Amino acid sequence: MTKATLSHLEKVARTAAKASYSPYSQFAVGAAVLAGSGKTYAGTNVENASFGLCNCAERTAIFTAVTAGEKKIKCVVVYTPTPTVTPPCGACRQVINEFGPRARVISVCDTKDRLDLSLETLLPGAFGPGNLG
Ligand code: THU
Repeated sequence: MTKATLSHLEKVARTAAKASYSPYSQFAVGAAVLAGSGKTYAGTNVENASFGLCNCAERTAIFTAVTAGEKKIKCVVVYTPTPTVTPPCGACRQVINEFGPRARVISVCDTKDRLDLSLETLLPGAFGPGNLG
């Protein structure tokens, strides 16, 4: 992946975080997904008064990509306006695995702190489509 692509993804994730609907946690998250077609999809976290229905930024971005017809995810960038990075939660790791078992997952924030790992490292031995026979 080129530096330009990465910096584009980071910019998209930063912009998406501005749209965060997080009145309960006050924790804004933005995500950008680089899909198989080469297109980028944005997502933010969307909370709900019924707390269990909150949707993470990563899943918003992935579901948006799938709605546009994408079936493969190459890279996910997560941005939080915090001093330390936010790694994707377990549910999001599982959803990334469905479309990008070999995806690169990068978390960035407002300092130089950075996480850059493979999904395989974040979710070793994942349950996936292959387990359904
Ligand atoms: N959140 C995300 O959007 N992505 C993550 O990877 C971690 C958590 C959101 C969910 C909720 O709206 C808020 O952050 C606090 O958990």
